[in-house]
Amino acid sequence: MTSRVADFLKERVDFSPVRAWVARRKIPQHKHSFWYYFGGLALFVLTIQIITGIMLAFYYSPTPVNANESVRYIMEKVHYGWLIRSIHFWGANFLIAVVLVHMFSTYFMKAYRKPREIMWVLGVIILALILTSAFTGYLLPWTTLSYFATKIGTSMPLYIPFVGHFISRLMAGGADVGAATLTRMFTLHTIVLPILWLTAIAIHVFLSQVLGLSTPMSQMQARDETKLFPNFMMRQAAVWSGALAVLISFVAIFPEGLAAKVNPVLPAPAGIKPEWYFLFVFQTLRTFPDVIGLGGITLGAIIWMLVPFLDRKASNGQKSTFFTLFGVAIIVYLVTMTVMAYITTEVH
Ligand code: HEM
Repeated sequence: MTSRVADFLKERVDFSPVRAWVARRKIPQHKHSFWYYFGGLALFVLTIQIITGIMLAFYYSPTPVNANESVRYIMEKVHYGWLIRSIHFWGANFLIAVVLVHMFSTYFMKAYRKPREIMWVLGVIILALILTSAFTGYLLPWTTLSYFATKIGTSMPLYIPFVGHFISRLMAGGADVGAATLTRMFTLHTIVLPILWLTAIAIHVFLSQVLGLSTPMSQMQARDETKLFPNFMMRQAAVWSGALAVLISFVAIFPEGLAAKVNPVLPAPAGIKPEWYFLFVFQTLRTFPDVIGLGGITLGAIIWMLVPFLDRKASNGQKSTFFTLFGVAIIVYLVTMTVMAYITTEVH
């Protein structure tokens, strides 16, 4: 049957140029090749997010009256609904963790250097879009925590001079978080953001194939290569299976629960804090005056995005110790702020 389908296609479409191109693809082999698996791993987790997200959207209802109830229905009535929801929840955490590892590993290997500057800039944009996806998805269960977290998030732009008020209103769909915010977040989460990150990722991955993978400067003497198909892809598949096993273990051991529907009239509960990936923002705002904190994070993100154009040494094939130290400083800052936020707030 398979060969009959193959013959049918072969008689009609000439795939030989694609096959020849794929056969020529090579992956550099050296001491740090392990990190090359993380881009593909991000693609894999993203695919899980798309599939489970579509399944959830079949039952979810984005109105203040029905949102929490529809999620409860998914958890209690829909066959394996609890499983799909927990995979989507843990998958989001995994995706952000994997993308962070991929970003910092490509950073320290200076893979952003010429000619891969566009890949890096796109990468930073993808990370911002993925984090925005996590933020917009957070409100959807319409619980006390999700409600107040969104209230804080949508009021943050108020610190931006001149346009802050407008941006805050645009995000919330009004003066306060309500029905309009929920439909806005739902549309952004399920339509607008996926279109944006899918487009950016398609260009990012296309460039990785056109340019090939970079070799770190310290490994330039290593001339070893392995074939993309089947060697690298077989190992990549093993990495995917391992990751799936870890993800399912998290889901089984810590299934995501569902808190009660929010009552917006009640005050925000004490000790409220965001998910781990936003804790550094939270702690920065507790440590520094708001305007300085937000301004600093924005400036830091812009500099981070422009690193390939600032690190001229790396692009000229020279060692750039300053930028290695800059990367270390960023990690130290993120980890310190995150740990401080954990130990100085009550766990809810
Ligand atoms: C969902 C998000 C992302 C996906 C699916 C993705 C996917 C990929 C894939 C498949 C590759 C080729 C294999 C590899 O090197 O691992 C790659 C390479 C690369 N990515 Fe990403 N990526 C993502 C996010 C990012 C981010 C956030 C950055 C940095 C800000 C980034 C920077 C790079 C760079 C510089 C390369 C070239 C690596 C080299 O040539 O050695 N990517 N990405």
